[in-house]
Amino acid sequence: MDTINNLFIYLFLSVFTFLLLRAVTAAHLRRRKTRLPPGTLGLPFIGETLQLISAYKTENPEPFIDDRVSKYGNIFTTHVFGEPTVFSADPETNRFILQNEGRLFESSYPGSIQNLLGRYSLLLMRGTLHKRMHSLTMSFANSSILKDHLLADIDRLVRLNLDSWTGRVFLMEEAKKITFNLTVKQLMSFDPCEWTEKLMKEYMLVIEGFFSIPLPIFSSTYRKAIQARRKVAEALGLVVRERRKERGGGERKNDMLEALFEGDGVEGGGFSDEEIVDFMLALLVAGYDTTSTIMTLAVKFLTETPHALSHLKEEHEEIRLRKGEVESLQWEDYKSMPFTQCVVNETLRIANIISGVFRRAMTDINIKGYTIPKGWKVFASFRAVHLDHAHFKDARSFDPWRWQSNAGSTSSPNVFTPFGGGPRRCPGYELARVELSVFLHHLITRFSWVPAEPDKLIFFPTTRMQKRYPIIVQRRSLFDPYKE
Ligand code: HEM
Repeated sequence: MDTINNLFIYLFLSVFTFLLLRAVTAAHLRRRKTRLPPGTLGLPFIGETLQLISAYKTENPEPFIDDRVSKYGNIFTTHVFGEPTVFSADPETNRFILQNEGRLFESSYPGSIQNLLGRYSLLLMRGTLHKRMHSLTMSFANSSILKDHLLADIDRLVRLNLDSWTGRVFLMEEAKKITFNLTVKQLMSFDPCEWTEKLMKEYMLVIEGFFSIPLPIFSSTYRKAIQARRKVAEALGLVVRERRKERGGGERKNDMLEALFEGDGVEGGGFSDEEIVDFMLALLVAGYDTTSTIMTLAVKFLTETPHALSHLKEEHEEIRLRKGEVESLQWEDYKSMPFTQCVVNETLRIANIISGVFRRAMTDINIKGYTIPKGWKVFASFRAVHLDHAHFKDARSFDPWRWQSNAGSTSSPNVFTPFGGGPRRCPGYELARVELSVFLHHLITRFSWVPAEPDKLIFFPTTRMQKRYPIIVQRRSLFDPYKE
Protein backbone atom coordinates (compact mmCIF):
# COMPACT_ATOMS: atom_id res chain seq x y z
CA MET A 1 0.00 0.00 0.00
CA ASP A 2 2.84 2.26 0.97
CA THR A 3 4.51 1.56 -2.37
CA ILE A 4 1.33 2.43 -4.34
CA ASN A 5 0.91 5.66 -2.39
CA ASN A 6 4.55 6.45 -2.99
CA LEU A 7 4.10 5.85 -6.70
CA PHE A 8 1.08 8.17 -6.91
CA ILE A 9 2.69 10.97 -5.02
CA TYR A 10 5.88 10.49 -6.96
CA LEU A 11 4.00 10.70 -10.27
CA PHE A 12 2.11 13.77 -9.12
CA LEU A 13 5.25 15.55 -7.99
CA SER A 14 7.08 14.51 -11.14
CA VAL A 15 4.32 15.87 -13.41
CA PHE A 16 4.28 19.15 -11.56
CA THR A 17 8.05 19.53 -11.38
CA PHE A 18 8.52 18.43 -14.97
CA LEU A 19 6.07 20.98 -16.34
CA LEU A 20 7.47 23.74 -14.21
CA LEU A 21 11.06 22.93 -15.03
CA ARG A 22 10.37 22.52 -18.72
CA ALA A 23 8.79 25.96 -18.89
CA VAL A 24 11.53 27.60 -16.84
CA THR A 25 14.34 25.76 -18.62
CA ALA A 26 13.04 26.48 -22.12
CA ALA A 27 12.78 30.20 -21.33
CA HIS A 28 16.19 30.20 -19.68
CA LEU A 29 17.88 28.39 -22.59
CA ARG A 30 16.21 30.61 -25.21
CA ARG A 31 17.43 33.67 -23.38
CA ARG A 32 21.01 32.45 -23.05
CA LYS A 33 21.41 30.38 -26.21
CA THR A 34 23.16 27.67 -24.18
CA ARG A 35 24.57 24.48 -25.63
CA LEU A 36 23.51 21.67 -23.33
CA PRO A 37 25.39 18.37 -23.34
CA PRO A 38 23.61 15.95 -25.71
CA GLY A 39 21.11 13.50 -24.31
CA THR A 40 17.43 13.09 -23.70
CA LEU A 41 15.07 14.18 -20.96
CA GLY A 42 13.24 10.88 -21.43
CA LEU A 43 9.53 10.40 -20.89
CA PRO A 44 7.36 13.33 -19.97
CA PHE A 45 7.20 13.75 -16.21
CA ILE A 46 9.35 10.85 -15.04
CA GLY A 47 12.30 11.40 -17.32
CA GLU A 48 14.64 8.38 -17.25
CA THR A 49 14.17 7.61 -13.55
CA LEU A 50 12.50 4.24 -14.04
CA GLN A 51 15.23 3.04 -16.43
CA LEU A 52 17.86 4.09 -13.91
CA ILE A 53 16.13 2.41 -10.96
CA SER A 54 15.46 -0.82 -12.83
CA ALA A 55 19.10 -0.98 -14.02
CA TYR A 56 20.47 -0.35 -10.50
CA LYS A 57 18.22 -3.03 -9.01
CA THR A 58 20.09 -5.67 -11.02
CA GLU A 59 23.58 -7.08 -10.67
CA ASN A 60 24.63 -5.37 -13.87
CA PRO A 61 23.56 -1.71 -13.95
CA GLU A 62 26.32 -0.75 -16.41
CA PRO A 63 24.16 -0.66 -19.59
CA PHE A 64 22.36 2.45 -18.26
CA ILE A 65 25.60 4.43 -18.46
CA ASP A 66 27.26 2.48 -21.31
CA ASP A 67 24.35 3.05 -23.72
CA ARG A 68 24.28 6.78 -23.11
CA VAL A 69 28.05 7.21 -23.20
CA SER A 70 28.25 5.39 -26.54
CA LYS A 71 25.39 7.50 -27.96
CA TYR A 72 26.28 10.93 -26.54
CA GLY A 73 29.81 10.81 -25.10
CA ASN A 74 31.14 11.12 -21.54
CA ILE A 75 28.99 14.09 -20.60
CA PHE A 76 25.29 13.79 -21.29
CA THR A 77 21.95 15.23 -20.24
CA THR A 78 19.28 13.12 -18.60
CA HIS A 79 16.29 13.66 -16.29
CA VAL A 80 16.24 11.69 -13.05
CA PHE A 81 14.50 11.98 -9.66
CA GLY A 82 12.37 14.87 -10.83
CA GLU A 83 15.11 17.09 -12.28
CA PRO A 84 17.08 17.55 -15.47
CA THR A 85 20.62 16.44 -14.69
CA VAL A 86 23.99 16.64 -16.40
CA PHE A 87 25.72 13.30 -15.95
CA SER A 88 29.52 13.16 -16.09
CA ALA A 89 31.45 9.97 -16.80
CA ASP A 90 34.55 12.04 -17.50
CA PRO A 91 37.36 12.15 -14.87
CA GLU A 92 38.47 15.70 -15.72
CA THR A 93 34.93 17.04 -15.46
CA ASN A 94 34.41 15.14 -12.19
CA ARG A 95 37.58 16.69 -10.80
CA PHE A 96 36.46 20.15 -11.90
CA ILE A 97 33.09 19.63 -10.18
CA LEU A 98 34.65 18.38 -6.92
CA GLN A 99 37.36 21.03 -6.76
CA ASN A 100 34.91 23.87 -7.35
CA GLU A 101 32.67 22.99 -4.42
CA GLY A 102 31.33 26.19 -2.86
CA ARG A 103 32.46 28.35 -5.82
CA LEU A 104 30.65 26.99 -8.90
CA PHE A 105 28.84 23.98 -7.44
CA GLU A 106 27.24 23.15 -4.12
CA SER A 107 26.35 19.78 -2.68
CA SER A 108 22.76 18.79 -3.07
CA TYR A 109 20.94 16.03 -1.18
CA PRO A 110 17.32 14.90 -1.56
CA GLY A 111 14.82 16.44 0.89
CA SER A 112 14.41 13.14 2.75
CA ILE A 113 18.12 13.00 3.61
CA GLN A 114 18.28 16.69 4.57
CA ASN A 115 15.37 16.38 6.99
CA LEU A 116 16.69 13.23 8.62
CA LEU A 117 20.26 14.43 9.05
CA GLY A 118 19.51 17.80 10.64
CA ARG A 119 20.88 21.17 9.58
CA TYR A 120 24.13 20.98 11.57
CA SER A 121 25.39 17.83 9.92
CA LEU A 122 28.73 18.15 8.11
CA LEU A 123 27.19 16.93 4.86
CA LEU A 124 24.81 19.90 4.78
CA MET A 125 27.11 22.62 6.12
CA ARG A 126 28.49 25.24 3.75
CA GLY A 127 31.23 27.88 3.65
CA THR A 128 33.70 28.58 6.44
CA LEU A 129 31.78 26.58 9.02
CA HIS A 130 32.01 23.54 6.74
CA LYS A 131 35.73 24.08 6.30
CA ARG A 132 36.29 24.30 10.04
CA MET A 133 34.17 21.27 10.88
CA HIS A 134 35.63 19.20 8.05
CA SER A 135 39.12 19.69 9.42
CA LEU A 136 37.92 18.97 12.98
CA THR A 137 36.51 15.66 11.71
CA MET A 138 39.74 14.91 9.85
CA SER A 139 41.72 15.54 13.02
CA PHE A 140 39.78 12.69 14.63
CA ALA A 141 40.38 10.11 11.94
CA ASN A 142 43.90 10.90 10.70
CA SER A 143 46.91 8.56 10.70
CA SER A 144 48.40 9.69 13.98
CA ILE A 145 45.10 9.28 15.90
CA LEU A 146 44.61 5.92 14.20
CA LYS A 147 48.10 4.87 15.11
CA ASP A 148 48.03 6.16 18.68
CA HIS A 149 44.66 4.94 19.84
CA LEU A 150 41.98 4.06 17.25
CA LEU A 151 43.82 1.02 15.92
CA ALA A 152 43.74 -0.62 19.37
CA ASP A 153 39.96 -0.08 19.60
CA ILE A 154 39.43 -1.37 16.07
CA ASP A 155 41.49 -4.49 16.77
CA ARG A 156 39.68 -5.18 20.07
CA LEU A 157 36.15 -4.57 18.77
CA VAL A 158 36.65 -6.65 15.61
CA ARG A 159 37.94 -9.58 17.70
CA LEU A 160 35.10 -9.20 20.19
CA ASN A 161 32.58 -9.48 17.37
CA LEU A 162 34.26 -12.46 15.69
CA ASP A 163 34.41 -14.31 19.04
CA SER A 164 30.64 -14.83 18.84
CA TRP A 165 30.57 -16.31 15.32
CA THR A 166 29.44 -19.92 14.85
CA GLY A 167 27.71 -21.79 12.02
CA ARG A 168 25.62 -19.50 9.81
CA VAL A 169 26.45 -15.80 9.93
CA PHE A 170 24.89 -12.87 8.07
CA LEU A 171 28.10 -11.09 7.17
CA MET A 172 26.45 -7.76 6.35
CA GLU A 173 24.75 -7.69 9.80
CA GLU A 174 27.92 -8.53 11.69
CA ALA A 175 29.95 -5.97 9.72
CA LYS A 176 27.32 -3.34 10.58
CA LYS A 177 27.60 -4.17 14.28
CA ILE A 178 31.38 -3.83 14.09
CA THR A 179 31.42 -0.47 12.33
CA PHE A 180 28.55 0.93 14.40
CA ASN A 181 30.26 0.01 17.65
CA LEU A 182 33.54 1.44 16.42
CA THR A 183 31.98 4.74 15.45
CA VAL A 184 30.14 5.04 18.80
CA LYS A 185 33.40 4.34 20.60
CA GLN A 186 35.26 6.93 18.54
CA LEU A 187 32.55 9.54 19.03
CA MET A 188 31.72 9.15 22.71
CA SER A 189 33.85 6.35 24.24
CA PHE A 190 31.04 3.81 24.78
CA ASP A 191 31.80 0.10 24.50
CA PRO A 192 29.13 -2.21 23.00
CA CYS A 193 26.20 -2.69 25.41
CA GLU A 194 22.40 -2.88 25.42
CA TRP A 195 22.23 0.89 24.89
CA THR A 196 24.38 0.80 21.71
CA GLU A 197 22.35 -2.15 20.39
CA LYS A 198 19.07 -0.23 20.85
CA LEU A 199 20.60 2.87 19.26
CA MET A 200 21.71 0.86 16.23
CA LYS A 201 18.19 -0.51 15.64
CA GLU A 202 16.81 3.04 15.56
CA TYR A 203 19.64 4.10 13.23
CA MET A 204 18.74 1.43 10.72
CA LEU A 205 15.21 2.87 10.54
CA VAL A 206 16.63 6.37 9.98
CA ILE A 207 18.76 5.14 7.07
CA GLU A 208 15.82 3.33 5.46
CA GLY A 209 14.01 6.67 5.38
CA PHE A 210 16.76 8.31 3.31
CA PHE A 211 15.39 6.98 0.07
CA SER A 212 11.69 7.37 0.73
CA ILE A 213 9.41 10.24 -0.25
CA PRO A 214 9.75 12.85 2.51
CA LEU A 215 6.00 13.11 3.22
CA PRO A 216 4.90 11.31 6.41
CA ILE A 217 1.25 10.96 5.23
CA PHE A 218 2.26 8.93 2.19
CA SER A 219 5.23 6.93 3.35
CA SER A 220 5.27 4.80 6.48
CA THR A 221 9.01 4.21 5.97
CA TYR A 222 9.58 7.95 6.18
CA ARG A 223 7.21 8.25 9.16
CA LYS A 224 9.12 5.56 11.04
CA ALA A 225 12.43 7.17 10.09
CA ILE A 226 11.34 10.53 11.52
CA GLN A 227 10.26 8.86 14.79
CA ALA A 228 13.54 6.93 14.95
CA ARG A 229 15.50 10.14 14.27
CA ARG A 230 13.77 11.76 17.23
CA LYS A 231 14.66 8.82 19.51
CA VAL A 232 18.30 8.83 18.34
CA ALA A 233 18.56 12.59 18.90
CA GLU A 234 17.06 12.20 22.42
CA ALA A 235 19.50 9.41 23.29
CA LEU A 236 22.51 11.36 22.00
CA GLY A 237 21.23 14.56 23.67
CA LEU A 238 21.18 12.77 27.02
CA VAL A 239 24.78 11.67 26.59
CA VAL A 240 25.83 15.21 25.67
CA ARG A 241 24.15 16.66 28.79
CA GLU A 242 25.68 14.02 31.08
CA ARG A 243 29.13 14.63 29.64
CA ARG A 244 28.78 18.39 30.08
CA LYS A 245 28.07 17.74 33.77
CA GLU A 246 31.09 15.45 34.12
CA ARG A 247 33.29 18.05 32.47
CA GLY A 248 32.09 20.53 35.09
CA GLY A 249 33.71 18.16 37.61
CA GLY A 250 36.98 18.23 35.64
CA GLU A 251 36.68 14.83 33.86
CA ARG A 252 37.99 14.72 30.23
CA LYS A 253 37.79 11.89 27.66
CA ASN A 254 39.79 11.44 24.48
CA ASP A 255 37.00 11.34 21.89
CA MET A 256 35.18 13.36 19.26
CA LEU A 257 32.60 14.63 21.73
CA GLU A 258 35.35 16.17 23.85
CA ALA A 259 36.77 17.89 20.73
CA LEU A 260 33.31 19.34 20.04
CA PHE A 261 33.01 20.65 23.60
CA GLU A 262 36.32 22.41 23.11
CA GLY A 263 35.53 23.76 19.61
CA ASP A 264 34.06 27.11 18.59
CA GLY A 265 30.35 26.76 17.88
CA VAL A 266 28.36 27.88 14.87
CA GLU A 267 27.67 31.35 16.29
CA GLY A 268 31.04 31.64 18.06
CA GLY A 269 31.25 30.49 21.70
CA GLY A 270 30.77 26.77 22.32
CA PHE A 271 28.58 24.38 20.31
CA SER A 272 25.00 24.03 21.47
CA ASP A 273 23.62 20.56 22.32
CA GLU A 274 21.52 20.60 19.12
CA GLU A 275 24.58 21.34 16.98
CA ILE A 276 26.58 18.55 18.62
CA VAL A 277 23.75 16.02 18.28
CA ASP A 278 23.19 16.78 14.55
CA PHE A 279 26.90 16.59 13.90
CA MET A 280 27.37 13.23 15.67
CA LEU A 281 24.21 11.76 14.18
CA ALA A 282 25.45 12.42 10.65
CA LEU A 283 28.95 11.15 11.36
CA LEU A 284 27.51 7.85 12.55
CA VAL A 285 25.47 7.58 9.35
CA ALA A 286 28.43 8.40 7.10
CA GLY A 287 30.85 6.08 8.88
CA TYR A 288 29.07 2.86 9.55
CA ASP A 289 26.93 1.89 6.57
CA THR A 290 29.64 2.57 3.98
CA THR A 291 32.44 0.73 5.78
CA SER A 292 30.32 -2.32 6.66
CA THR A 293 29.25 -2.65 3.03
CA ILE A 294 32.84 -2.52 1.83
CA MET A 295 33.80 -5.22 4.38
CA THR A 296 31.04 -7.50 3.11
CA LEU A 297 31.88 -6.93 -0.53
CA ALA A 298 35.61 -7.52 -0.02
CA VAL A 299 34.74 -10.96 1.38
CA LYS A 300 32.34 -11.65 -1.50
CA PHE A 301 34.91 -10.73 -4.17
CA LEU A 302 37.65 -12.74 -2.42
CA THR A 303 35.37 -15.78 -2.10
CA GLU A 304 34.74 -15.59 -5.85
CA THR A 305 38.47 -15.15 -6.62
CA PRO A 306 40.21 -18.02 -4.72
CA HIS A 307 43.74 -17.21 -5.92
CA ALA A 308 43.42 -13.67 -4.50
CA LEU A 309 42.14 -15.12 -1.24
CA SER A 310 45.06 -17.53 -0.94
CA HIS A 311 47.57 -14.73 -1.70
CA LEU A 312 45.95 -12.65 1.04
CA LYS A 313 45.98 -15.60 3.46
CA GLU A 314 49.73 -15.96 3.04
CA GLU A 315 50.24 -12.30 3.92
CA HIS A 316 48.10 -12.48 7.07
CA GLU A 317 49.25 -15.89 8.27
CA GLU A 318 52.82 -14.64 8.14
CA ILE A 319 51.93 -11.67 10.36
CA ARG A 320 49.98 -13.87 12.78
CA LEU A 321 52.68 -16.54 13.02
CA ARG A 322 55.18 -13.78 13.78
CA LYS A 323 52.99 -12.30 16.53
CA GLY A 324 51.45 -15.33 18.19
CA GLU A 325 47.78 -16.10 18.69
CA VAL A 326 46.57 -13.35 21.00
CA GLU A 327 48.74 -10.30 20.48
CA SER A 328 46.87 -7.34 19.02
CA LEU A 329 47.81 -5.70 15.72
CA GLN A 330 50.19 -2.75 15.86
CA TRP A 331 50.64 0.09 13.37
CA GLU A 332 53.76 -1.61 11.90
CA ASP A 333 51.65 -4.74 11.22
CA TYR A 334 49.08 -2.63 9.39
CA LYS A 335 51.88 -1.08 7.38
CA SER A 336 53.19 -4.51 6.41
CA MET A 337 50.11 -5.58 4.43
CA PRO A 338 50.89 -4.54 0.84
CA PHE A 339 48.62 -7.06 -0.86
CA THR A 340 45.78 -6.20 1.54
CA GLN A 341 46.01 -2.59 0.35
CA CYS A 342 45.65 -3.84 -3.24
CA VAL A 343 42.53 -5.77 -2.19
CA VAL A 344 41.13 -2.70 -0.41
CA ASN A 345 41.68 -0.49 -3.50
CA GLU A 346 40.24 -3.03 -5.86
CA THR A 347 37.15 -3.56 -3.69
CA LEU A 348 36.60 0.20 -3.49
CA ARG A 349 37.06 0.52 -7.26
CA ILE A 350 34.77 -2.24 -8.33
CA ALA A 351 32.08 -1.97 -5.62
CA ASN A 352 31.58 1.80 -5.88
CA ILE A 353 29.42 1.94 -2.80
CA ILE A 354 29.16 5.71 -3.31
CA SER A 355 28.65 5.60 -7.04
CA GLY A 356 29.04 9.36 -7.43
CA VAL A 357 27.89 12.67 -5.99
CA PHE A 358 25.14 15.13 -6.83
CA ARG A 359 25.91 18.84 -7.01
CA ARG A 360 23.93 21.91 -8.10
CA ALA A 361 25.37 24.52 -10.48
CA MET A 362 25.52 27.90 -8.70
CA THR A 363 25.87 29.79 -11.98
CA ASP A 364 25.95 29.00 -15.73
CA ILE A 365 29.08 26.87 -16.16
CA ASN A 366 30.95 26.28 -19.41
CA ILE A 367 32.82 23.04 -19.63
CA LYS A 368 34.17 21.04 -22.57
CA GLY A 369 32.18 23.16 -25.03
CA TYR A 370 28.87 22.74 -23.19
CA THR A 371 26.95 24.91 -20.76
CA ILE A 372 25.49 23.61 -17.53
CA PRO A 373 22.68 26.06 -16.72
CA LYS A 374 22.52 27.71 -13.30
CA GLY A 375 20.39 25.69 -10.86
CA TRP A 376 20.78 22.40 -12.76
CA LYS A 377 21.78 19.21 -11.03
CA VAL A 378 25.05 17.56 -11.95
CA PHE A 379 26.05 13.99 -11.16
CA ALA A 380 29.79 13.26 -11.06
CA SER A 381 29.86 9.50 -11.55
CA PHE A 382 32.85 7.74 -9.96
CA ARG A 383 31.43 4.39 -10.98
CA ALA A 384 31.45 5.25 -14.69
CA VAL A 385 35.15 6.17 -14.51
CA HIS A 386 36.19 3.25 -12.29
CA LEU A 387 34.58 0.78 -14.65
CA ASP A 388 35.80 2.39 -17.88
CA HIS A 389 38.21 0.23 -19.92
CA ALA A 390 39.94 3.42 -21.06
CA HIS A 391 41.21 3.96 -17.51
CA PHE A 392 41.49 0.44 -16.08
CA LYS A 393 42.47 -2.59 -18.14
CA ASP A 394 39.78 -5.26 -18.03
CA ALA A 395 37.95 -2.78 -15.84
CA ARG A 396 35.02 -4.96 -14.84
CA SER A 397 37.02 -7.79 -13.30
CA PHE A 398 38.22 -8.02 -9.71
CA ASP A 399 42.00 -7.96 -10.08
CA PRO A 400 43.85 -6.74 -6.94
CA TRP A 401 47.22 -7.31 -8.63
CA ARG A 402 46.60 -4.30 -10.93
CA TRP A 403 47.45 -2.08 -7.90
CA GLN A 404 50.97 -3.49 -7.72
CA SER A 405 51.91 -1.24 -10.63
CA ASN A 406 50.82 2.06 -12.23
CA ALA A 407 48.64 3.02 -9.28
CA GLY A 408 46.10 0.58 -10.73
CA SER A 409 45.14 2.70 -13.71
CA THR A 410 46.28 2.64 -17.29
CA SER A 411 45.70 6.38 -17.71
CA SER A 412 46.27 8.71 -14.74
CA PRO A 413 46.20 8.40 -10.93
CA ASN A 414 43.39 10.96 -10.76
CA VAL A 415 40.82 8.51 -12.03
CA PHE A 416 40.47 6.64 -8.73
CA THR A 417 38.13 8.62 -6.44
CA PRO A 418 36.12 6.27 -4.18
CA PHE A 419 36.27 8.90 -1.39
CA GLY A 420 35.41 11.87 -3.61
CA GLY A 421 37.70 14.89 -3.71
CA GLY A 422 38.04 18.63 -3.10
CA PRO A 423 36.77 20.29 0.08
CA ARG A 424 34.23 17.52 0.73
CA ARG A 425 36.64 14.62 0.35
CA CYS A 426 35.65 11.89 2.82
CA PRO A 427 37.31 12.62 6.19
CA GLY A 428 37.03 8.91 7.08
CA TYR A 429 39.07 7.62 4.12
CA GLU A 430 41.96 6.33 6.17
CA LEU A 431 39.83 5.06 9.02
CA ALA A 432 37.78 2.99 6.56
CA ARG A 433 40.95 1.45 5.08
CA VAL A 434 42.29 0.49 8.52
CA GLU A 435 38.94 -0.98 9.61
CA LEU A 436 38.72 -3.12 6.50
CA SER A 437 42.35 -4.31 6.76
CA VAL A 438 42.04 -5.29 10.44
CA PHE A 439 38.74 -7.04 9.77
CA LEU A 440 40.23 -9.06 6.90
CA HIS A 441 43.23 -9.99 9.04
CA HIS A 442 41.16 -11.49 11.86
CA LEU A 443 38.60 -13.09 9.58
CA ILE A 444 41.18 -14.81 7.44
CA THR A 445 43.41 -16.04 10.25
CA ARG A 446 40.51 -17.35 12.37
CA PHE A 447 37.92 -18.70 9.95
CA SER A 448 37.30 -20.48 6.71
CA TRP A 449 33.87 -19.96 5.13
CA VAL A 450 31.57 -20.77 2.23
CA PRO A 451 28.47 -18.87 1.07
CA ALA A 452 25.38 -20.39 2.72
CA GLU A 453 23.17 -19.74 -0.33
CA PRO A 454 23.29 -17.72 -3.56
CA ASP A 455 22.96 -13.98 -2.97
CA LYS A 456 22.78 -10.95 -5.26
CA LEU A 457 24.62 -7.62 -5.26
CA ILE A 458 22.22 -4.76 -6.04
CA PHE A 459 22.80 -1.01 -6.24
CA PHE A 460 19.48 0.70 -5.54
CA PRO A 461 18.58 2.44 -3.25
CA THR A 462 22.03 1.67 -1.84
CA THR A 463 24.72 -0.84 -2.74
CA ARG A 464 24.03 -4.00 -0.76
CA MET A 465 23.76 -7.79 -0.79
CA GLN A 466 20.09 -8.62 -1.18
CA LYS A 467 20.11 -11.38 1.49
CA ARG A 468 22.77 -9.78 3.73
CA TYR A 469 25.37 -12.31 2.49
CA PRO A 470 24.83 -15.40 4.67
CA ILE A 471 27.95 -17.56 5.07
CA ILE A 472 28.79 -20.79 6.93
CA VAL A 473 31.92 -20.30 9.00
CA GLN A 474 34.35 -22.78 10.47
CA ARG A 475 36.86 -21.79 13.10
CA ARG A 476 40.52 -22.49 12.32
CA SER A 477 43.70 -21.98 14.27
CA LEU A 478 47.13 -21.49 12.81
CA PHE A 479 48.48 -22.75 16.10
CA ASP A 480 46.60 -26.05 16.27
CA PRO A 481 47.81 -28.53 13.63
CA TYR A 482 44.64 -30.67 14.00
CA LYS A 483 42.21 -27.85 13.23
CA GLU A 484 41.60 -26.60 9.70
C1 HEM B 1 34.51 2.67 2.52
C2 HEM B 1 34.04 3.61 3.28
C3 HEM B 1 33.70 4.99 2.83
C4 HEM B 1 33.46 5.51 1.58
C5 HEM B 1 33.52 4.78 0.24
C6 HEM B 1 33.15 6.90 1.75
C7 HEM B 1 32.91 7.77 0.69
C8 HEM B 1 32.64 9.10 0.84
C9 HEM B 1 32.49 10.04 -0.26
C10 HEM B 1 32.55 9.69 -1.73
C11 HEM B 1 32.24 11.25 0.29
C12 HEM B 1 32.09 12.57 -0.47
C13 HEM B 1 30.67 13.06 -0.53
C14 HEM B 1 30.56 14.35 -1.33
O1 HEM B 1 31.52 14.79 -1.96
O2 HEM B 1 29.46 14.90 -1.33
C15 HEM B 1 32.22 11.09 1.72
C16 HEM B 1 31.97 12.11 2.62
C17 HEM B 1 31.96 11.93 3.97
N1 HEM B 1 32.36 10.81 4.67
FE1 HEM B 1 32.89 9.05 3.88
N2 HEM B 1 33.20 7.21 3.08
C18 HEM B 1 33.54 6.09 3.78
C19 HEM B 1 33.75 5.98 5.14
C20 HEM B 1 33.62 7.01 6.04
C21 HEM B 1 33.92 6.92 7.45
C22 HEM B 1 34.49 5.70 8.18
C23 HEM B 1 33.60 8.12 8.00
C24 HEM B 1 33.75 8.50 9.45
C25 HEM B 1 34.45 9.49 9.85
C26 HEM B 1 33.09 8.97 6.92
C27 HEM B 1 32.63 10.26 7.07
C28 HEM B 1 32.27 11.08 6.02
C29 HEM B 1 31.73 12.43 6.21
C30 HEM B 1 31.45 13.10 7.54
C31 HEM B 1 31.55 12.96 4.92
C32 HEM B 1 31.01 14.35 4.57
C33 HEM B 1 32.16 15.26 4.24
C34 HEM B 1 31.73 16.64 3.83
O3 HEM B 1 30.63 16.82 3.28
O4 HEM B 1 32.53 17.55 4.05
N3 HEM B 1 33.13 8.26 5.75
N4 HEM B 1 32.49 9.78 2.04
